[in-house]
Amino acid sequence: MLNFRFRPELRMPGWKSIPFPDQIKRLLIIFIILVIMLITVRNYLMPPTFVKEGHYRAAAIDSILALPIHYAGQEACSECHDEYVALKQTSYHQNVACEVCHGPGANHVEDPSENTPSAPRQRGLCPLCHIYNASKPTGFPQINIVTHNPLEPCMSCHEPHDPKPPQPPEECGACHGEIARTKAVSHHAALECTQCHSAPEAHKKDPRSFRPSKPRKRTFCGGCHGENAESAGEIPRVDLQSHEPDHACWQCHYPHYPEVR
Ligand code: HEC
Ligand code: HEC
Ligand code: HEC
Ligand code: HEC
Ligand code: HEC
Ligand code: HEC
Ligand code: HEC
Ligand code: HEC
Repeated sequence: MLNFRFRPELRMPGWKSIPFPDQIKRLLIIFIILVIMLITVRNYLMPPTFVKEGHYRAAAIDSILALPIHYAGQEACSECHDEYVALKQTSYHQNVACEVCHGPGANHVEDPSENTPSAPRQRGLCPLCHIYNASKPTGFPQINIVTHNPLEPCMSCHEPHDPKPPQPPEECGACHGEIARTKAVSHHAALECTQCHSAPEAHKKDPRSFRPSKPRKRTFCGGCHGENAESAGEIPRVDLQSHEPDHACWQCHYPHYPEVR
């Protein structure tokens, strides 16, 4: 049924007298359909000013001009917020424009008191650029937001208009986290690391070349725990002469979590 056009008895009488072979006739039909489509598209479906200026819609310029302006540009901000512009100018964020973080500010510039731009204080903003991603260029400062000081807003440690590159950490626990966390829940929680170790400042920059001291003698612990020690407060005491005299104290008591069983 579908190919009735090719059944000879259904053909129009004059059809046979055209001396073209069948396949040419079919091509002719396709060609005519294409021409009709082309004419319809050009006259009815194409935007009016399309080919006027080459392969471009000439009226696009006017419609783009008519769009509302959202961004004011950084120059505009310096008129009223020059302290922030100056702060940012020499910072690591010098190439991050104000409106990248604060959003489009054109209507704020027009009427500052009516339209206040947002000052995004949530943790979500900064990771847009700083979240760790292996494909980012080497050296671009990146963090793992799950482990990097979670639950605190970034601003509490980094000034967004003048973020500082990392300093070598000051606290012992930044590098000796396991020990610090262990000690924090032990009977020695109140003791500073430096009460038992004297750590040179250089240890924090070059830890393996500049080593802190470690207690060497039983009398060190005895300074607080000896029977006659002058240490104040409720400190458990032992008699150094009789309490396991042949061993160092830390062979039995882990100094960062001393236990008595
Ligand atoms: C004509 C002066 C003027 C210009 C130009 C201007 N601001 Fe402001 N801006 C103000 C004033 C005034 C306020 C305080 C408004 C208030 O407290 O209600 C303000 C407040 C802000 C705030 C604080 C919002 C908050 O939550 O505390 C931000 C952020 C800000 N402006 C960003 C910008 C940025 C970005 C630009 C440039 C695109 C800019 N401003 C341009 C006058 C200006
Ligand atoms: C990297 C993102 C970032 C850029 C770039 C940035 N800001 Fe901010 N800005 C912030 C954040 C975050 C705060 C909120 C700080 C806070 O609460 O401590 C803020 C606060 C402000 C405030 C309000 C201060 C207040 O106490 O309410 C103003 C005004 C402001 N920025 C202006 C600017 C201007 C002008 C520029 C461009 C020179 C700029 N900012 C660039 C992130 C940015
Ligand atoms: C639009 C992207 C972008 C956003 C958003 C952004 N930063 Fe940055 N940040 C940068 C660029 C670019 C640098 C400079 C990197 C360089 O110099 O190699 C930078 C540098 C830094 C540095 C310096 C670190 C170093 O080791 O050099 C810190 C810290 C920093 N940003 C913190 C923040 C904080 C906090 C926020 C949110 C308030 C923030 N950034 C939002 C792009 C961004
Ligand atoms: C409690 C304080 C604190 C908070 C909160 C904090 N940071 Fe940091 N940040 C630091 C310190 C300290 C360093 C330097 C030591 C380090 O790398 O851990 C640093 C380093 C960085 C660096 C540089 C890393 C590098 O390798 O150069 C970036 C970028 C950064 N922080 C972004 C952020 C962002 C984004 C947030 C919020 C999601 C944030 N920080 C929250 C304290 C903080
Ligand atoms: C920048 C990271 C860093 C900081 C900060 C740091 N340390 Fe260390 N520390 C190390 C490294 C790395 C070693 C060497 C570990 C090794 O060789 O096995 C070390 C070793 C030590 C040792 C063992 C020395 C030895 O000879 O066995 C002690 C004790 C020590 N640190 C105490 C401290 C104290 C106390 C502080 C704070 C005042 C501190 N550290 C701060 C990184 C650091
Ligand atoms: C009560 C005294 C005391 C305090 C407080 C103390 N330590 Fe120690 N620490 C010791 C003794 C004793 C040793 C030696 C253990 C040994 O030689 O087996 C030691 C060993 C170490 C070592 C060598 C590696 C190891 O685990 O044995 C490091 C690193 C260290 N301490 C870091 C710290 C840090 C960081 C703090 C603070 C968070 C701290 N210590 C607090 C007494 C103390
Ligand atoms: C600066 C004083 C001081 C020094 C030095 C000190 N301790 Fe302590 N230690 C204390 C205090 C204070 C307590 C008790 C805290 C409390 O009330 O729970 C304590 C508790 C203890 C306990 C008892 C824990 C328990 O379960 O009751 C042991 C064991 C102990 N220390 C071992 C040591 C050893 C071993 C050293 C030497 C590496 C040492 N201490 C050095 C102050 C010190
Ligand atoms: C051979 C293992 C060993 C050595 C070495 C050792 N202790 Fe003990 N220590 C123990 C045991 C076991 C206990 C719990 C039983 C007891 O009270 O005799 C204890 C208990 C303690 C107590 C708690 C006393 C109380 O009344 O709660 C302190 C404080 C103490 N030791 C400090 C030290 C000091 C300081 C040194 C080094 C001078 C040291 N120990 C060396 C095994 C040891």
